[in-house]
Amino acid sequence: MEKEGLKEEKRGRFEPDGEIYEELLKYGKDIMDSPGMQKSKQFVHHGDVSVYEHSLHVAASCLAIARKLKWKVDERALVRGALMHDYFQYDWHEPDRTHRWHGFIHARRALRNAERDFSPNEVERNMIETHMFPLNLRLPRYRESVILTIADKICSVQETTARRG
Ligand SMILES: [Fe+2]
Ligand SMILES: [Fe+2]
Repeated sequence: MEKEGLKEEKRGRFEPDGEIYEELLKYGKDIMDSPGMQKSKQFVHHGDVSVYEHSLHVAASCLAIARKLKWKVDERALVRGALMHDYFQYDWHEPDRTHRWHGFIHARRALRNAERDFSPNEVERNMIETHMFPLNLRLPRYRESVILTIADKICSVQETTARRG
């Protein structure tokens, strides 16, 4: 049923489709369909891209980077950690004193929310917590975490600059 809902909505330009979308579903359908993630469609992240769209964009890019580098990774953890990495659940553009520190605090907030809703494993937890490296000083401890920090930065630049094009 949720699938129908997804079909009706216009797919964002950075939202993966086809085979790669099917792979995200294979590893992270429960996260993608969850009420919390669905809610993140309303939170604007970069330009006009929602947190939901950004998260899928990053997850697909993580898979592409891992395969390109031929790194041996846990693809399931890679996708799930990427889907959860910005699960901070607020609109950081809204004027609020705590949102001013968004860059520094949202990884911890995302981790706390993810632990509450999805029980991430050790690799996924480290991915979420360290994805803002080097802004947050905690070190990425796994290949999956390193890939996420790279994919997140590339996708963020693409999403921010696309708006002007
Ligand atoms: Fe983030
Ligand atoms: Fe992100």
